Amino acid sequence: MSNVEKEKVVELIHVDKAFGDQIVLEDVNLPIYEGTTTVIVGPSGTGKSVTLKLMMGLMRPDSGQVIAFGHDISNISNKELRKIRMNFGVLFQNVALFDSMNIFDNIALPLRERTDATEDDIRRNVQEKLEMMDLTGADKKFPAQLSGGMLKRAGLARALVLDPRIVFFDEPTTGLDANKSAEIYRLFHHTQSELNYSAVIVSHDVPKIFKLSDFVVLLAEKKLHGCVSPEDFQLSDNPAIRLYVEKNIGPIYSSLIEEAGFYETF
Ligand SMILES: Nc1ncnc2c1ncn2[C@@H]1O[C@H](COP(=O)(O)OP(=O)(O)OP(=O)(O)O)[C@@H](O)[C@H]1O
Ligand SMILES: [Mg+2]
Repeated sequence: MSNVEKEKVVELIHVDKAFGDQIVLEDVNLPIYEGTTTVIVGPSGTGKSVTLKLMMGLMRPDSGQVIAFGHDISNISNKELRKIRMNFGVLFQNVALFDSMNIFDNIALPLRERTDATEDDIRRNVQEKLEMMDLTGADKKFPAQLSGGMLKRAGLARALVLDPRIVFFDEPTTGLDANKSAEIYRLFHHTQSELNYSAVIVSHDVPKIFKLSDFVVLLAEKKLHGCVSPEDFQLSDNPAIRLYVEKNIGPIYSSLIEEAGFYETF
């Protein structure tokens, strides 16, 4: 199916965002298509987390629209926003589990707070997510008793417990070594094909994260660049993307550049 036919689950349209006189985003457009993974990359402080917060309705834009599941959430009551947020899952850098609750109760929390699920349903759902995350048997442990990787997996289980249609990840592997990061992404890939959610991931794991991406966008100088496949991103002739790729991935082969340079040396 082409992207044109796919439903947009969330979309930023002509969004501007400033804090005081600091302009962070200027006329940003970003569609997120159903069942796809979009990766946002860019230097520190350029507004990647702000972009996620806008899409989740945690921040409102100064102008422009934020459409989620057909509703403009930049202009909506808190009650309606809460309903729409039921479709959202979140995994931020600091997983933020409650230290005083065991892993089972941490994962069950969104179900208890936001649904009328019975304790039997909750038990079934949480056990299923624990299994998916290789955490069976860790349900009675408290966050302080888990390793960094286990904590992230528990966070992922909690993010998925409401069966969200879109999950937002803000640097989900921060603080993990390469092996543990790969494990998180493997689980992420596995659960996505099983549960079929859309994902928006802010990540510095470039170019490894490209393997999981359908679309890559670069945030630089207040603007979004790209929203193209990882292959097209790496070969893009957009100057901002070229600069980013050369800095973070290394010079790429381009017949035009290579040839021009080659003949100049004679
Ligand atoms: N609530 C806020 N109030 C004022 N300024 C803010 C607020 N949130 C973010 N900013 C500013 O907006 C800019 C973008 O912040 P953001 O957190 O989105 O960057 P980022 O791209 O996620 O960076 P990093 O890669 O370091 O996480 C920064 O200059 C930040 O100081
Ligand atoms: Mg950030």
